Amino acid sequence: MADLDGQPVGVEMLETFREAIRFRHSTRRYADRSVPDDGLAHLLEFAAQAPHLTDVPPRVTLISGREQVGQILARYIGVYGLVQGAPHLLVGLIPEDSDRARLDLGYVLEQVVLEATRRDLSTCWMTGSYHPERAADRVERRPGEVIAATVALGYAREDRLARLHDSTIRRLVAAHRRRPLEEIVFAGKWGAPWSPTRADPALVEVLECARLAPSAENRQPWRFVVEGGAKLRLHLFLTGPSPIDAGIVMAHVALAGAELGWDGHWVLHWQDPALLEMVSAPPGIIPVGTFS
Ligand SMILES: Cc1cc2nc3c(=O)[nH]c(=O)nc-3n(C[C@H](O)[C@H](O)[C@H](O)COP(=O)(O)O)c2cc1C
Repeated sequence: MADLDGQPVGVEMLETFREAIRFRHSTRRYADRSVPDDGLAHLLEFAAQAPHLTDVPPRVTLISGREQVGQILARYIGVYGLVQGAPHLLVGLIPEDSDRARLDLGYVLEQVVLEATRRDLSTCWMTGSYHPERAADRVERRPGEVIAATVALGYAREDRLARLHDSTIRRLVAAHRRRPLEEIVFAGKWGAPWSPTRADPALVEVLECARLAPSAENRQPWRFVVEGGAKLRLHLFLTGPSPIDAGIVMAHVALAGAELGWDGHWVLHWQDPALLEMVSAPPGIIPVGTFS
């Protein structure tokens, strides 16, 4: 963290994941400062122990060294520009090239991103801005394993030029914008209006944490159908095929819900037509799962 002149003000740890969710944003310019070894070890341990959604969970491994990481990141992709100076790269490995495995990677790696954010570290999810084959040369893979995403990790550069660069990219992808809850949440059936004003405050807080999740190109493809009554259920759908984004938003719901005392969990219904039918969702919408 830094004061208004960009001077570090010492390490402060954010207490809750909900604070980390509000504080996190993608950083594309990193300071020339490595993360202490015990901090890196903690994140890898955290990743290995993180709750997951499939039988064979993804693995998270690490590449360190600005030069090594720089060679992997040196790729210009669309509006993103370069991610520069990151001293570390978290590499997400999935056991097989499937949507479910990607979804679980989103779930596990976003928990790590938020734990890193709690510890004053900056991150940037990447599925485009890196060379997968160069990353593959530098990590040990088990048979069948595929690299599905990476996350730049380090301390943010706080000088004016770096801030200008980051804010320009953020404007280009409209990174600061999120759809209002009324647009992404429906009551009971697809398209039925839902309003936060009459809803349980804990539910509104969980959905607000979902809404703030990062997604590729900030597409925010998630839609929720809330089923009220004695037993609250949240059904998650996607407007496009982006399983990693689905896993990320599921992590936000699970972490925020746990902090608010919910003892719910996700059950996957990936591409299950019964879930579409149940809420009368139109064709093309992808069912993901139910939190209850
Ligand atoms: C799955 C995924 C892939 C992403 N890929 C890239 C990428 O290749 N390069 C990049 O600069 N940003 C990438 N991003 C960052 C998004 O653009 C960013 O999360 C989004 O614009 C929201 O901004 P915020 O993270 O600052 O809230 C990715 C994000 C996600 C979730």
